[in-house]
Amino acid sequence: MEPNTTLSISIVSGKGGVGKTNIALNLGFALHELGHSLALLDADLGLANLDVLLGISPQKNLQDLLTGSIPEEVLVSLAEERFALLPSASGVAELVELDEDVQSILLDKLDTLFRQYEFVLLDLGAGISPTVLSFAAMPQERIVVITPEPTSLTDSYALIKVLFTQHQIKNFQIIVNIAENNEEAHLSFDRLAQACERFLGLPIRLLGIIHKDPMVTESVRQQVPLFKFAPSCQAINDIRYIAQKLIARRSKLLDLIARTPILKTLT
Ligand SMILES: Nc1ncnc2c1ncn2[C@@H]1O[C@H](COP(=O)(O)OP(=O)(O)O)[C@@H](O)[C@H]1O
Ligand SMILES: [Mg+2]
Repeated sequence: MEPNTTLSISIVSGKGGVGKTNIALNLGFALHELGHSLALLDADLGLANLDVLLGISPQKNLQDLLTGSIPEEVLVSLAEERFALLPSASGVAELVELDEDVQSILLDKLDTLFRQYEFVLLDLGAGISPTVLSFAAMPQERIVVITPEPTSLTDSYALIKVLFTQHQIKNFQIIVNIAENNEEAHLSFDRLAQACERFLGLPIRLLGIIHKDPMVTESVRQQVPLFKFAPSCQAINDIRYIAQKLIARRSKLLDLIARTPILKTLT
């Protein structure tokens, strides 16, 4: 088999409504604009809403992949080429939780399907339910989205703690979203980093800051992806910068990625 070149990243948070779905989608557009291929997997099995943000109603989803549809037919193309969405299905959570065979079949199918892409981004539900945790732990890397609110900090610490102690995940990259300014964002990151360092002995890394931007809410209301709705707004500029950092990171990790299945944590 050809060595793997796909970097997979799950986008997680302790608390809902912090901007994961918007970040997954627009980071996808930014990576694509910069010439990279990618697939988005909607792994929010409860409240799938990548399709809502896109204003589309996909015919097929993750469940069809499991029940034997032709894998390529389950993907929704989001650009002329090399940018695809795999929609979520609410019935998959039970299947995946119940049965280890189903899990490994799903992983095999996803691995084959994702090999052609340079990046795979998984948009997850919030919290620490078993399904969320297993999808969070699956990909090679994780981005934890936090906001400056105190509840976001405590909930994201709880999520990092359980992924670290129960799933042996050591690598966390943080995005501070909905930041009023850089100072506030750095203060929030520092608080979380101090807690992780002090109580878990775990260093975490700041991947980027996305400023509070009224265009995000407006684009959600209009069901037009922010990247198309306001291509040069502050939030998109912030997201472009994060996309560049991910591209550099993938290049740096290529040797390690080559030795790791697409849906297995890099160690
Ligand atoms: N950078 C931002 N600036 C302003 N509002 C934001 C920003 N990011 C997200 N939001 C708001 O948060 C809401 C929830 O975003 P969403 O991506 O659905 O979160 P999640 O997937 O984490 O539940 C959006 O509808 C938007 O109103
Ligand atoms: Mg979401």
